[in-house]
Amino acid sequence: MTSSQTLLRGRTLSFSSEPNGPDDTSAYQYCEDGAVLIQGGMIVASGDHSTVAAQAVQPQVIDHRPHLLMAGFIDSHIHFPQVQVIASWGSQLLDWLNNYTFPEETRFASPAHSAAMASAFYDLLLGHGTTTAVAYCSVHKASADAFFTEAARRDMRMIGGKVLMDRNAPDGLMDTPQSGYDDTQALIREWHGRGRASYAITPRFAITSSPGQMEMAQTLVAENRDCHVQTHLSENHAEIAFTRELYPQARDYLHVYETYGLLGPKALLGHAIHLTPREIDALAETGAHPVFCPTSNLFLGSGLFDDAGLRGRGIANAIATDVAAGTSYSMLQTLNEGYKVLQLQGQSLHPLRAFHWITRGNAVTLGMVEKIGTLDAGTEADVVVLDARATPAMDLRMQRADSLSDELFVLQMLGDDRAVAQVYVAGRASKKAHRSPVLEAAL
Ligand code: GUN
Ligand code: ZN
Repeated sequence: MTSSQTLLRGRTLSFSSEPNGPDDTSAYQYCEDGAVLIQGGMIVASGDHSTVAAQAVQPQVIDHRPHLLMAGFIDSHIHFPQVQVIASWGSQLLDWLNNYTFPEETRFASPAHSAAMASAFYDLLLGHGTTTAVAYCSVHKASADAFFTEAARRDMRMIGGKVLMDRNAPDGLMDTPQSGYDDTQALIREWHGRGRASYAITPRFAITSSPGQMEMAQTLVAENRDCHVQTHLSENHAEIAFTRELYPQARDYLHVYETYGLLGPKALLGHAIHLTPREIDALAETGAHPVFCPTSNLFLGSGLFDDAGLRGRGIANAIATDVAAGTSYSMLQTLNEGYKVLQLQGQSLHPLRAFHWITRGNAVTLGMVEKIGTLDAGTEADVVVLDARATPAMDLRMQRADSLSDELFVLQMLGDDRAVAQVYVAGRASKKAHRSPVLEAAL
């Protein structure tokens, strides 16, 4: 039996490589009159409407003209248990963690709270056009179960893991080397590779993992080579100084993770701002991916990510929101702030590279470009529908836009969830209108 087909009509944009400049038209396919044909959650064909429509068999047609259809956005670093921490005032990393973040994460011991927050989290991601994310859950196994259960219910391609943390945190927010190992193994067995789920082994950062726990993390990585690994690296000067005290034998911060065998192409290293030349050499050698988190780095005053410097060494950087130190779920707003962080260093982020980065680029760093990140036939049908005229300011500016790059730059600088007209997850329309439960209860 063949399932029914859906044909999305609109302008289509999909990348086949990273654009090497504003005029690199060979890096993408853009169709003014385009379409995406979907069946069974997969893209069957995309491109020119007349060619795609000729292949369709009695499809349901959804006409999104004049909007722009692209692959759903990918957020490569976000904290699921921090949905109620975003926009907490006044401190830099370590105080922010101790005063706001750690107390909030203790609430995720409750499966009911975790389930409620997982639902809110995915509504937020989808409302902002993000169809895949790599997430940190809390230390509690229940939080990761809720994270994967809700993603499975929505058929979303999600990557995540419970954080391993056994010191320098409040009671109620620590595991032990053994319980962290046992819970992680159980979660991998239950979720990794099930449907669209993947597991990321997640030692939170060197400060909250003892050497004994790092050894357990090393065993987990060695036993589960196809899982991702995620942690934080060199985000803040006080963090680096404390790490050096806790691991006096390490040559530098990255060396802690090297010592425990955590690095390789599956490793995602959040922030990676204040790196030594030796650390950059080691990153280049291992193929690990630094993750640029611009709204977070500005919010916490952490510093300026040297994208060009790392790229110049052949390192492939990912880009992410890092909510809740990040101040927006929007990958468009992430590009906006990323543009400014790079401007401050005499670097730039032209819109073609920017939109490649939050789609195919992040998919490449995750090793998932065969599945997500493009509109290619045979990939999963996660699609975002973008409206560059979504607000009065965007609409006025668009009256002067005369090229695709111009339109993309309007979205990059001014866009947010309002510019996301619709989002499809495995071919299903998934953007919901927001209704505040608090307001509704008061009416
Ligand atoms: N380093 C360790 N944990 C965290 C976190 O939750 N957020 C950020 N921004 N940095 C961290
Ligand atoms: Zn983070």
